Amino acid sequence: MHLNENIKLLGKKIVLVPYEARHVPKYHDWMSNETLRQLTASEQLTLSEEYLMQQSWRKDSDKLTFIILDADIYAQDNDELAAMVGDTNLFLRHDPDSNQSVAEAEIMIAEPQARGKGYGREVMLLMLKYAQSQLELNKFEVKIDMDNAVSVRLFESFQFVETGRVEVFHEVTMQREITTEWIDWLDKQVELKIVSYKDRLEPIHAAQ
Ligand SMILES: CC(C)(COP(=O)(O)OP(=O)(O)OC[C@H]1O[C@@H](n2cnc3c(N)ncnc32)[C@H](O)[C@@H]1OP(=O)(O)O)[C@@H](O)C(=O)NCCC(=O)NCCS
Repeated sequence: MHLNENIKLLGKKIVLVPYEARHVPKYHDWMSNETLRQLTASEQLTLSEEYLMQQSWRKDSDKLTFIILDADIYAQDNDELAAMVGDTNLFLRHDPDSNQSVAEAEIMIAEPQARGKGYGREVMLLMLKYAQSQLELNKFEVKIDMDNAVSVRLFESFQFVETGRVEVFHEVTMQREITTEWIDWLDKQVELKIVSYKDRLEPIHAAQ
C-alpha cells in the first residue's frame, strides 16, 4: 500500500523504511537461502519477479511492508543497503465469517549476525503499533512453522494465542484480538516515532 511510502519508523535498535526497488537485489540474495524460504514460507523468485513483487507490495491496498535497518549502521552514513537486516510485512484480509479485518504479520531478520539482539521484538512491536494506529483492524494473525520455537515464543509474549494447526503445512496459526486493554499494553511496550522519509533516492533499477 502507499500508506507508508513517505515515512520511516524510528526504533532504538532498528529503523523501518519503505521497501524500494533499490532494496530488491539484497532481498533477492537473502531469499536464495533455502532455510530462510522455509522459515518464512516463501517461494524462490527470479530477480525480475522480485522487482514485480516489490511493486505489488507498494501498490496493492492489502499489503504493507517495511525494510528493517540496523539503526547503528544506518546512523553512520545513511547507507540503507549496508544497514538492511530484514523485512516485515502485513497482509490484510476481511474474514467474512466474523466480519472482521485481519492483518497477517510476517517478520524476517535475514542477517544471522543481527538475530538474538532484540531487533525482531522491537520491529514487530513497532509494526503492530503502526498498523493498529493507522488502519481499521480487529485482529492480528501470524502463521509460524511448528519448529520455530523462537518465533512462537516471541508472539506468545505479545499475547497472541494459538487458534489453529495445519499438520500438512507444519504450521501453527496464532491470533491476537485488538482490544482496548491490548492497545494499552502495546503502548507501554513501544513508542511510535514516525518521521519523513526525505533521504529517499530515486530507484536505481527500473522494474524488469
Ligand atoms: C524469529 C525472529 C524474527 C526473531 O527475531 P530476533 O531479532 O532474532 O529475536 P529477538 O532478539 O528480538 O528475541 C526475541 C525473543 O526470542 C528469544 N530468542 C532469540 N533468539 C533465540 C535463540 N536462538 N534461542 C532461544 N531464544 C531466542 C529472545 O530471548 C527473545 O525473548 P525475550 O525478549 O523474552 O528475551 C528471527 O530470528 C528471524 O527472522 N528468523 C528467521 C525467519 C523467521 O523465523 N521468521 C518468523 C516467521 S513468522
